[in-house]
Amino acid sequence: MDDLKTVAAEVRGCKLCGLAPTRKNAVPGEGPDHAEIMLIGEGPGFNEDAQGRPFVGASGQFLTELIASAGFKRTEVFIANVVKCRPPGNRDPLPDEIMACQGYLDRQIALINPKIIITLGRFSMARWFPNERISVIHGRAKQVDGRIVVAMYHPAAALHQPALRQTLEDDFKRMQSILADAQKKVAPPAPKKPAMPERGSKEEEKSGDAEQLSLF
Ligand code: URA
Ligand code: SF4
Repeated sequence: MDDLKTVAAEVRGCKLCGLAPTRKNAVPGEGPDHAEIMLIGEGPGFNEDAQGRPFVGASGQFLTELIASAGFKRTEVFIANVVKCRPPGNRDPLPDEIMACQGYLDRQIALINPKIIITLGRFSMARWFPNERISVIHGRAKQVDGRIVVAMYHPAAALHQPALRQTLEDDFKRMQSILADAQKKVAPPAPKKPAMPERGSKEEEKSGDAEQLSLF
């Protein structure tokens, strides 16, 4: 049986992509095994690489404040990243690095089975909302595969553009009510859909991946 410790151990020894040789420490992520909320950032920066823990630098401090302002403890959410090793000089992760690392994040999501996934920044957003713009969809809850996914700006963006600080604070303040709704209304992942819903049928209308909840 897979578990989060096994995933973390594999990540720490991983050499699947070109980020392995330059990292000090891989950063598997941290949080409770069955957290209801999972936050997914981009990749470790300097401090995270040094400590082997996610979001421990300046943007991490802001993220911790945002989580607290939303009424949660940092220790009750799971915090992970799209890539588990630091891209040199904090450059963007490359598509092949994201692909190489994806299996770890997939396993973490499956094991934790969170009710809510919060994406932080464009690389984690892209997985659920490939053609959306953060300026349009930030803070909005969408139901995807039986979970709620909310795209948020990356906390680091607010450190560079102070105007985004308030936006992030406002978006995080809605987490309590989003979770309360998720606990009431979100069904578990549906069994596999028929391969091809009839054209124009209700199934076809519903089969869009990112169906927006009418309740939010
Ligand atoms: N930025 C991220 O995206 N992840 C971290 O862990 C730290 C900073
Ligand atoms: Fe492995 Fe992911 Fe690190 Fe690449 S970034 S070496 S795939 S753990």
